[in-house]
Amino acid sequence: MNVLQSDVKPWDYDGDLLVVGVWQDGDFSAEVAELDRRLAGAISAARQREQLGSSWLETWSTNTFGFIRAGRIVVLGLGRREQCGIREVRLAAGKAAQEALKYKARRMAWLVPDTMLEMSVVAETAADGLMVGSWAFSTYKSSPPEDTLEEATLLGLASTADNAIQRGIILAESQNLVRDLGMRPSNKLYPELLAEAAVTEAKTYGIATEVFDEQRLAELGMGALLGVGSGSVYPPRLVILRYQGGGSRTLALVGKGITFDSGGISLKSAAGMEEMKFDMLGAAAVLGALIAIARLHLPINVVGLMALAQNMPSGSAYKPGDVVTAFNGKTIEVINTDAEGRVALADAVSYAAHLGVDWIVETSTLTGAVLTALGHEATALVATDDPLASLVLQASEASGERVWRLPVYPEYRELYRSDVADLKNAPGRDAGTITGGLIISEFAGEVPFAHLDIAGTAWTAKSALNRTKNGPTGVMVRTFVKLAEMLSR
Ligand code: BES
Ligand code: ZN
Ligand code: MN
Repeated sequence: MNVLQSDVKPWDYDGDLLVVGVWQDGDFSAEVAELDRRLAGAISAARQREQLGSSWLETWSTNTFGFIRAGRIVVLGLGRREQCGIREVRLAAGKAAQEALKYKARRMAWLVPDTMLEMSVVAETAADGLMVGSWAFSTYKSSPPEDTLEEATLLGLASTADNAIQRGIILAESQNLVRDLGMRPSNKLYPELLAEAAVTEAKTYGIATEVFDEQRLAELGMGALLGVGSGSVYPPRLVILRYQGGGSRTLALVGKGITFDSGGISLKSAAGMEEMKFDMLGAAAVLGALIAIARLHLPINVVGLMALAQNMPSGSAYKPGDVVTAFNGKTIEVINTDAEGRVALADAVSYAAHLGVDWIVETSTLTGAVLTALGHEATALVATDDPLASLVLQASEASGERVWRLPVYPEYRELYRSDVADLKNAPGRDAGTITGGLIISEFAGEVPFAHLDIAGTAWTAKSALNRTKNGPTGVMVRTFVKLAEMLSR
């Protein structure tokens, strides 16, 4: 899909669908009032009959019968103007795109709302939301549905916003790449194939790549990642992506890439296990972010690490009670083979620290406990460095992705002490998301470290941006790009 800008008046837009927004309890904008007049008062009549309450993301639509040039109009409730931030603009744009898909429009226009945000921010966010909202995945359908939406035009932007729109497109393409990878099941995307896909994509954008196979991992002493992968016929991989944007400082982004998490010997129950093909979305987000950072030519060095393995039960699988040794020499007692993410990440994070980076930011679908704490509404942040934590929170706000910081009191560290090794991988249920993050932090050494648990946000069923049941979201790409932008200064 293509996103354009035009200064044509909304009533003169000649595509299949025109989407306009209305504020809750507010007057119509001048353009909506004029559209209403041309449509013989249909919009205000709908509002009066309370068919159109203009509450958040509520829609009302009519064929335009030639009263205006677009074939159909959708009026979209935007909620309250003072509450309309970046997240809201993105969701509204996504909903607009979903309406275009619903009505099988080939060409649509969105009259961007008059918010309190900067025009370029609105343009970037709208372009992103439209492209992310129109994403669909049909690779494994023998007769895929025709992709109907070809072009979306932004109307009502005060001046040229080509650069901002281009930025939005770059962000959206990265997020949609993450979502495509997420949708691929583990028989079609095991570590070797995900590593290959990452290398292919990264090379397209001039990102240097390195892949450690099982021999190299063994030579380097990465017994943790090898342990997690030892039950699978598909061996693990560590992918390293390097973007040199300049300057003296380097940000490491690390992602959990379990292409399927069966739980291993500590086997999960059957219900919903198919969703564990999504357990690689942290690693995919790292890839997506690096690509966007490279395409935006941000003046910073970023190294991406993707810890890839398949967690399976078998005669060769790692077992409860086993002790594995990570790259930095620390030993981990495996209490529960289903707490594999932190084990796999131990090697990737200690390798990042070994590279001498200035910050390590890691993301993973790490714990079910984060769903208990925050549901699907926010990503949990577990950070051992306050300045880095505030930067991550600032980046999340500027990207419209919700992140909520959890406390890291020293007492939590006592929960994962082991009698036989340096630490154990699965303490009890208490503070499960915090202990998970802190265990990973043990491998960052002295490097400022932040962990983002995306188990509740990496995929979701009900979203203005998702058409698929249980669709991947591409979360953290936007936050990571913002963070890299902020650290470049
Ligand atoms: N990948 C799962 C976490 C997960 C669960 C993500 C549900 C999304 C939805 C992770 O590897 C896992 O199994 N974690 C365990 C840890 C426990 C054994 C300490 C969990 O959360 O139950
Ligand atoms: Zn997992
Ligand atoms: Mn697990």
